[in-house]
Amino acid sequence: MCGIIGYIGKRQAAAILLDGLKRLEYRGYDSAGIATISDKLHMKKDKGKIEEIDRRLNFADMPGTIGIGHTRWATHGEPSQKNAHPHIDNAGKIAVVHNGIIENYEHLRHFLRSNGYSFYSDTDTEVVPNLINYFMRQGHDFEEAVRSTVSRLKGSYALGIVSLDEPDKLIAVRKESPLIIGLGVDEMFIASDVPAVLPYTKRVIVMEDGEMAIVTSVKAIIKRVDSGEIVERKPLEITWTIEMAEKRGYPHFMLKEIHEQPDAVRETLRAAQKELDGLCDMLLNAKRIYLVACGTAYHAALIGKYALAQLAGMSTEVVISSEFQESCMADEGTVLLAISQSGETADTLKAVRVAKANGAKIACLTNVVGSSITRESDLVCHTYAGPEIGVAATKTFSAQVAYLLSLAIRLAEKRSLKSKKELNELAIQLHKIPETILDTLQIVEPKVKDIARRHKDATNFFFIGRGIGYPIAMEGALKLKEIAYIHSEATPAGELKHGPLALIQRGVPVVAVVVPGASYSRMLSNVEEVGARGGEVIALAVEGDVEVGKHVTELIQIPKTHELFTPLTYILPLQLLAYFISVERGLDPDRPRHLAKSVTVE
Ligand code: M6R
Repeated sequence: MCGIIGYIGKRQAAAILLDGLKRLEYRGYDSAGIATISDKLHMKKDKGKIEEIDRRLNFADMPGTIGIGHTRWATHGEPSQKNAHPHIDNAGKIAVVHNGIIENYEHLRHFLRSNGYSFYSDTDTEVVPNLINYFMRQGHDFEEAVRSTVSRLKGSYALGIVSLDEPDKLIAVRKESPLIIGLGVDEMFIASDVPAVLPYTKRVIVMEDGEMAIVTSVKAIIKRVDSGEIVERKPLEITWTIEMAEKRGYPHFMLKEIHEQPDAVRETLRAAQKELDGLCDMLLNAKRIYLVACGTAYHAALIGKYALAQLAGMSTEVVISSEFQESCMADEGTVLLAISQSGETADTLKAVRVAKANGAKIACLTNVVGSSITRESDLVCHTYAGPEIGVAATKTFSAQVAYLLSLAIRLAEKRSLKSKKELNELAIQLHKIPETILDTLQIVEPKVKDIARRHKDATNFFFIGRGIGYPIAMEGALKLKEIAYIHSEATPAGELKHGPLALIQRGVPVVAVVVPGASYSRMLSNVEEVGARGGEVIALAVEGDVEVGKHVTELIQIPKTHELFTPLTYILPLQLLAYFISVERGLDPDRPRHLAKSVTVE
């Protein structure tokens, strides 16, 4: 997804912008560019990877101590040099970088064309510098021209803007696309995301919708776009270290993040305790509860549904965000709990808005403080997994699951459906789970690496599970298709006989998620069923389970936990399997093709 970086200070802007762009790479992009200002406006941009573009164009020779940079993920117009950002006005004095979509750009183009302006790209963004130019020609100063421009834009946008006429300021505007201001000493930054500015400062202000910031090298003044009123906001002290956002010696962010799961779960469980009562009250007063999410967060929501039903006797409906508006009914009695790592996923935000418009109450569970979803919600809950750079969600999945398990236990306490003793024991076990995760990682990693080597050339993978094992299987299949580009399909084990079994033949790898509990013996039958048709069963089962071992090709043994906590341990070999197969196939697990970390368009 598009990333914005901006700098104003005493140092050479281009070098800092280039570094910032590299730190935004994980958002996904197809082109990149930089504009700086010295005695004139300089701009370099192109399609491709940042390092290649830099080798071709050499960003380092761009003079100036103020500038903006951008990584683009195409929405309007194909990836190309002309469509890459920044975009400039016809006079070559104003440069703009943009994340989001300007819905009324055709109308604005028409207006500008009728006033003598020409367009050189297919983007929606190009109207912005030209409209600013238009207003400056009417006598507005830079700030006023930006305000007049923005008030005519429909859609979502985070903008970074510089002007040759006022080279001592950088203007940032935010509406429904993330933007932060990094406060340095005699230098300031704007960025789509914190990791871009972390090497330079840990003090950031998160901009809110409808705000613009006039940023000089010594201060940032935030104003409401509509009224011009100044907004006072205390900066946040970011506790993430630079090291937390870097690879810490692991070859890939994904592997580092897989190994960070004990901490992510521990921190989340600790912090959740304070928030849970508010969320419980909201849910207990609801007539209907929706859990809404996409991708991995959707799988965490399915696990949440299972836990809420099993422990708290509460019924919830889990819906993929992009399907919500077509299929769901929300009213004043509805609570929608939106789960989103980034808090910026457009489909989830849309579901939230639809539900809200129908009177529903909104709670969110997100990993990103100050993200868009937090502003749309009546109640905000956080996972504390730290920044996740790998496109494939790993530690944030575990943090979401841990949060939802904690919620289910607290709700069960409030509803007095289980004995205090039983719930206490569960709570104690859950708080010990970070150690079990650590043990599991140590036990399974060498074995999984070996299995990955043997199965790297498979063209199809099946994942089967029952009960809570099914969403685990779904998440395992998603990881494999996402980063190893292998067709992988998760199916409830009981559904095999209704169709998928026809595809099982000699040599087809089938990952069986065999969790303890009520479904165990039925799952065992499914394992046999697959084995009998020649499928190569890779089973995940509790340590010491001799029964499963009799029918499978590979057995991955997982330390024992309560059935409800198995998603936190069983998911580890599945994440590792996808990771090692991706590496074996010579792919980059951190940056899978066609995918972005945070999907901010519907
Ligand atoms: O930021 P979100 O949790 O809202 O993102 C949802 C999905 O886009 C995300 O989980 C995606 O499926 C991951 N790349 C999966 O690894």
